[in-house]
Amino acid sequence: MKNDSPHSDWSPDSWRKAPQAHAVHYDDPAALAVAEKQLRDLPPLVTSWEIERLRNFLAEAQEGKRFVLQGGDCAETLADCRSSTITSKLKILLQMSLVMVHGLKKPVVRIGRFAGQYAKPRSNPIETRDVAGSKVSLPSYFGDLFNSADFTPEARRPDPNLMVRGYKHAALTLNFIRALVDGGFADLHHPEYWDLSFFHHASLSDQVRAEYRRMTENLADGLRFMEALGEKAVDDLTRVEFFTSHEGLSLEYESAQTRTVPRRDGHYNLATHMPWIGERTRALTGAHVEFFKGIRNPIGVKIGPKAAPADVVALCNHLNPTDIPGRLSLICRMGAPNVAAALPPIVKAVHEAGKRVLWMCDPMHGNQITTASGIKTRSFDAICSEIDQTCSVHAQLGTILGGVHFELTGEDVTECIGGGSGVTEADLSTNYASLCDPRLNYQQALEMAFLLSRRLSKRPDSQAAEKKTL
Ligand code: PEP
Ligand code: CO
Repeated sequence: MKNDSPHSDWSPDSWRKAPQAHAVHYDDPAALAVAEKQLRDLPPLVTSWEIERLRNFLAEAQEGKRFVLQGGDCAETLADCRSSTITSKLKILLQMSLVMVHGLKKPVVRIGRFAGQYAKPRSNPIETRDVAGSKVSLPSYFGDLFNSADFTPEARRPDPNLMVRGYKHAALTLNFIRALVDGGFADLHHPEYWDLSFFHHASLSDQVRAEYRRMTENLADGLRFMEALGEKAVDDLTRVEFFTSHEGLSLEYESAQTRTVPRRDGHYNLATHMPWIGERTRALTGAHVEFFKGIRNPIGVKIGPKAAPADVVALCNHLNPTDIPGRLSLICRMGAPNVAAALPPIVKAVHEAGKRVLWMCDPMHGNQITTASGIKTRSFDAICSEIDQTCSVHAQLGTILGGVHFELTGEDVTECIGGGSGVTEADLSTNYASLCDPRLNYQQALEMAFLLSRRLSKRPDSQAAEKKTL
């Protein structure tokens, strides 16, 4: 097959020769080969022109002309492929984006962590539990693309057929999303019908509350005004495009959907618009970087606080040697206590190397805490603090924060602590539904959009005042 990648030794399968971190072992190679063949034969989930369109949007976000909102579940499940769950997830992302369009006065690119976010890297490949008084060890749950969450040997056995089921559920999800987005959501045009009850919470100062109320009224007025003009603008704001993304952890899955397309050079991963490489699989010589370097999609790389600035520059050189605009997003997830020390050297090194990247902030993954009773959670305040500090770092270095990445859901879960809706540690067990990391609930996510709008719309002169040479 023709190879148009700048890496002459690359093919959709060249990753197979490189060491693969977090590889999941299938005990039936014949069944794996059958599943891969099925995935190779099935039609693509997205198209190359949608992918190129997103890449162009991301190139504009790099220049500060757009802002990216990426969000969704930590781990989607096959069981969650239901109309209510999909609708509420799409709704919260659209509502957040409308608040942000209004606050930031620029278009917001919406990218869901969905329609394929089924594969999870786990710190420990084995999970041990007490079952009827004795210790039982089984493979960890790696996400519905690999195995199932129940703690039984059958459920935890990696099953290659799950890749095909995952693909089908991604297709069902995407089909419904495309239909919803095309039809428009009527109540999006009426922010006064949104659930904004967090406005009433005691932790908001009167000034902030008044500001939020003003923003909502302005947003509602603006949308009504556009409706009155009979413009398509409201529909453009609420319909528009929706893009998909997921962690490209299973290279069997990703490579089986990677192909050439007529009249375009190179290979596209047509399982999603924007796959990303996780913090644990971004080794320069590893299989994931090998696979990602050859696909044409815009890609993300998660960057944690331990990343050496020189390694991040090397990743940029490797994954985007010709500095294609919009190609590479660095999704930094430092943890609030680490931002001040860890982020500036990385941003500075990439900037000084002249590399073109989209800087994004994932304020979720570095802020995980475990309660005394063993529940994984995140504090709303720590999430806000990471965003706030990240904005300051970029303002000081003269670089642009072009997007944010959240784990969130449109449901009323109790997984993260804090925010105006007042979820406390004692509330966590009320509705903790995530099989993996804790997500912002509807109220927390919407409040986050208001906070982001306030923080990111700070006047340039006040940002310039922050600017000093580091
Ligand atoms: C995730 O996004 O769910 C994840 C595992 O993130 P990270 O690779 O940043 O730890
Ligand atoms: Co997660």
